[in-house]
Amino acid sequence: MSVRIGLLGCGIVGGATARILEVHAAELQQRAGTAIELRKVAVRSLSKPRPVDLPADMWTTDPWEVVKDPEIDVVVEVIGGIEPAKDLILEAFSNGKHVVTANKELLANLGKEVMDAAEASGKDLLFEASVGGGIPIIRPMKESLAGDRVRRVMGIVNGTTNFILTRMSDTGMTFAEALAEADSLGYTEMDPSADIEGFDAASKLAILSSLAFNARVIAGDVAREGISRVTPADISAAHELGYEVKLLAVAEMDDGAVSARVHPAMLPKTHPLASVRDVYNAVFVEGEQTGELMFFGRGAGGGPTGSAVVGDIVEIARNIRNGARGIGCTCYHSAARIRPMDEAKVRYYVVLSVTDQPGVLASVAGVFASNEVSIASVRQEGAGDEATLMLITHTATEGAHRATFVQLGELSTVRSIMSSMRVEGAPE
Ligand SMILES: NC(=O)c1ccc[n+]([C@@H]2O[C@H](COP(=O)([O-])OP(=O)(O)OC[C@H]3O[C@@H](n4cnc5c(N)ncnc54)[C@H](OP(=O)(O)O)[C@@H]3O)[C@@H](O)[C@H]2O)c1
Repeated sequence: MSVRIGLLGCGIVGGATARILEVHAAELQQRAGTAIELRKVAVRSLSKPRPVDLPADMWTTDPWEVVKDPEIDVVVEVIGGIEPAKDLILEAFSNGKHVVTANKELLANLGKEVMDAAEASGKDLLFEASVGGGIPIIRPMKESLAGDRVRRVMGIVNGTTNFILTRMSDTGMTFAEALAEADSLGYTEMDPSADIEGFDAASKLAILSSLAFNARVIAGDVAREGISRVTPADISAAHELGYEVKLLAVAEMDDGAVSARVHPAMLPKTHPLASVRDVYNAVFVEGEQTGELMFFGRGAGGGPTGSAVVGDIVEIARNIRNGARGIGCTCYHSAARIRPMDEAKVRYYVVLSVTDQPGVLASVAGVFASNEVSIASVRQEGAGDEATLMLITHTATEGAHRATFVQLGELSTVRSIMSSMRVEGAPE
């Protein structure tokens, strides 16, 4: 007996998957307890060079041929995007095949439809590579942490933006200069907005929070701000206080409601996530019993992501051999409320340009107090027209902070709000 694989896509991830299946075939057979055999590969073009040398009759430009093939047991979807990936996966399930996918966009937007199809067919749907590339995070969430309650997940889940912020932090360069460097190193997509504006991180956070809180969270539930407005001044202000600026994906569950958001934030340099540099990713999990955990590694690239895909294939092969089925959908709390961003509990660092006259501090403090935002620390620099106030708030709702900022802008003593950024991971 062997477990027969049909691969949809042979690009960065699919190519690495095919190569690992070929080079490590003997080891994989021992690990799975059965041979794993690549049978068919669907691509768009038959003339592109590929990292594996397979017989001509294994290649096809018709992915439907693969999902309908009775000789295929497991379909691996690494085409990406919503269509035709979704319909191909649904067809694979209706033909009794197990599915492995790395497709965060599909899972974060239409996960329910795909999960329901897996349930209806009684087959496995595994997606370890969809978040954090080579970092094992889906299986630990589903299996290892099944005995705990996850309270909070905080991650750096986009390598491109982490590289840009690392370069800005190290050199003082602007966002545009760091983006150009990322581009020259091949770290950006053709359209960089999915990374820069936080869409990619929001999709990954939707998947992570669905698993962490057993809730149904979709990409559209995640409040999102990108990094294009982060300035060198924001970063040097953060450094002065002993902080780094990171694009964070944060999800919390409290009072039966989920809050999920992606935005740039200041993080104390002593926080484990602050040391995650360049294109590396990490997910920091706070469990009720386990306390703090961190999963760190390469969040993208053929080798790391292909190894996660092959890990899923091995798990399915073991399940087939044992006549078992893996864990299905874990979104038991499908009615969990999603908190609007205004209700999210956050802290802010704010820099105000103020006129240096008696009563300025009192008028500013009065606005914070009237919105029930308390101030954790305040520092004044300069005098006369150049006076600057730097404040860090205690935790209050996003809505209360926003109302505060609007009213501060209306004070005659406040010239401008020079900078404002959320603060995470700092003791109150
Ligand atoms: N790249 C990463 O580091 C990474 C990390 C984590 C997750 N992922 C996810 O993995 C998936 C694949 O990403 P990738 O970077 O490997 O993409 P990619 O390099 O663009 O590869 C896509 C592959 O799909 C094939 N393809 C596209 N449309 C097709 C169609 N209609 N029929 C048959 N084949 C088709 C392409 O064929 P041709 O080669 O002939 O064009 C190509 O081989 C995506 O969901 C992505 O989000 C990627």
